[in-house]
Amino acid sequence: MKRFTLFGLIVLSLLLLTSSSQITYDLSAQDAKKPPETIVMAKEAKLGQVTFKHLDHITKNRSVDGTKPIACVECHHTAQPAAEAAKVPPHKMVWPADRTTTLTAELLEKDPNAPAVNICTDCHARADTKPKLLPEIPKLKFEGSTEETVLTNQQAFHRTCGACHDAVVKARPDLSTPPPTSKKCVACHKKSVA
Ligand code: HEC
Ligand code: HEC
Ligand code: HEC
Ligand code: HEC
Repeated sequence: MKRFTLFGLIVLSLLLLTSSSQITYDLSAQDAKKPPETIVMAKEAKLGQVTFKHLDHITKNRSVDGTKPIACVECHHTAQPAAEAAKVPPHKMVWPADRTTTLTAELLEKDPNAPAVNICTDCHARADTKPKLLPEIPKLKFEGSTEETVLTNQQAFHRTCGACHDAVVKARPDLSTPPPTSKKCVACHKKSVA
């Protein structure tokens, strides 16, 4: 608290002393933002919660073919400029709508103007609830389907996580620790913390 006030005073006096806007801040120590290491999700699911090793998914070679880490925007699909998102149909929406940067670990850490990372459920809310950021849960008509699918948390996560895991097992059937495929519900959902 004290340090914060002091910092504020320094910034204020710098602002008063300089007429230009050429002040540079060193945000590395306190404001550095890092991707979380482990995230416990689905706390309200009857099947049990899901422990997701976020950092392992972005630092180890977990792409389908196992040769590279997974890009942030493969999951955080709204964290890039609209023109980039549109290259991967059916994606269109980005957040905020006028963003010019693509989420990377470096951007998050070093760019003080980088938009905050939205959690998926800010848009893909649980069934019958209003998402925080949108008037309603997004819907899509998938290829080969006549009906619109409401992209609830369940749909969004199962499509993102399950689809990759299924593809991984297909591409690399000899993996010693295969990821939980979409049908292995309780390999992801656990009643108690493992
Ligand atoms: C395999 C999918 C996946 C990848 C790849 C991924 N993330 Fe995430 N990330 C998630 C999920 C899921 C959450 C939690 C969302 C939720 O709780 O709804 C999350 C949460 C976060 C959060 C916390 C947001 C908050 O306010 O709680 C940050 C920050 C973040 N990710 C940054 C990154 C960065 C930077 C990268 C790339 C280096 C990245 N993520 C790559 C899936 C991913
Ligand atoms: C700002 C709102 C928003 C956030 C945050 C968001 N989404 Fe989405 N998502 C959408 C919208 C809107 C669509 C429909 C397609 C479009 O317009 O981009 C969509 C479509 C999808 C789809 C279906 C399309 C496909 O590729 O199969 C999946 C899966 C998905 N999102 C997963 C996620 C995951 C996982 C996260 C978090 C890591 C996330 N979304 C974060 C708004 C969001
Ligand atoms: C683009 C591919 C990809 C996506 C997307 C992905 N995973 Fe994985 N995941 C993997 C791979 C590859 C492994 C296994 C790595 C190994 O052990 O060699 C794995 C392993 C796991 C495991 C086993 C424990 C561990 O982490 O070692 C869990 C649980 C898991 N993933 C949950 C999730 C969840 C939840 C999501 C969605 C938020 C997700 N994954 C998205 C590729 C992916
Ligand atoms: C790869 C990991 C994974 C697998 C496999 C998986 N799930 Fe999930 N599931 C999740 C995640 C992650 C969420 C959403 C978490 C959140 O909203 O925080 C979820 C959400 C759900 C929800 C919605 C919970 C709620 O009320 O918000 C249900 C129901 C569900 N899963 C059932 C299943 C069933 C049934 C299966 C097997 C056919 C299955 N899951 C397989 C990861 C998985």
